[in-house]
Amino acid sequence: MTELVDVNALLLSRIRDVPDYPEPGVLFKDITPLLADPAAFTALTGALADLSVRHGATKVVGLEARGFILGAPVALRADLGFIPVRKAGKLPGATLSQRYDLEYGSAEIEVHAEDLKPDDRVMVIDDVLATGGTAEASLRLIRRAGAQVAGVAVLMELGFLNGRERLIPALDGAPLEALLTV
Ligand code: PRP
Ligand code: MG
Repeated sequence: MTELVDVNALLLSRIRDVPDYPEPGVLFKDITPLLADPAAFTALTGALADLSVRHGATKVVGLEARGFILGAPVALRADLGFIPVRKAGKLPGATLSQRYDLEYGSAEIEVHAEDLKPDDRVMVIDDVLATGGTAEASLRLIRRAGAQVAGVAVLMELGFLNGRERLIPALDGAPLEALLTV
């Protein structure tokens, strides 16, 4: 327990609040100080790898772009394959696409369909759960590919945006793990 508290305190101490970015009134959570600190980066990827193993994942999906920075080392540390979910138009093979709503407009993410097999259990890794739109779309992609969802694990959840509530139907009983809630 002491160790867990220490890890969370270390992670929190390495996240920089940037007021009014990317627009006035928004408090941006900058993880670059955490990435630049090897002790914190090691603690973070270790914690997310432990969760992936504990929830029986066979693959790790990272969500472009910050989910790639975290997801790839998590996959290696958990001894699992890594699958990128990319913003539309970047994958050369046969893709599945999922569009989702943003506050203004919409976005689209894609995965190589052949990377996910019916017996795969997939852990989705990202830095932040905000409205939950990106993670929800990734879960739809995983299920449309025929694979199973082991869970979603993020460094931090922005509790006031209620992304967890939005994600619950798509999780269908799978866990949402957030190391920090801010
Ligand atoms: C950010 C963040 C999450 C997503 C969370 O990604 O990294 O992926 O928003 O928001 P949501 O829960 O409301 O969907 P973004 O695409 O803005 O930037 P990135 O390419 O740097 O990861
Ligand atoms: Mg992102």
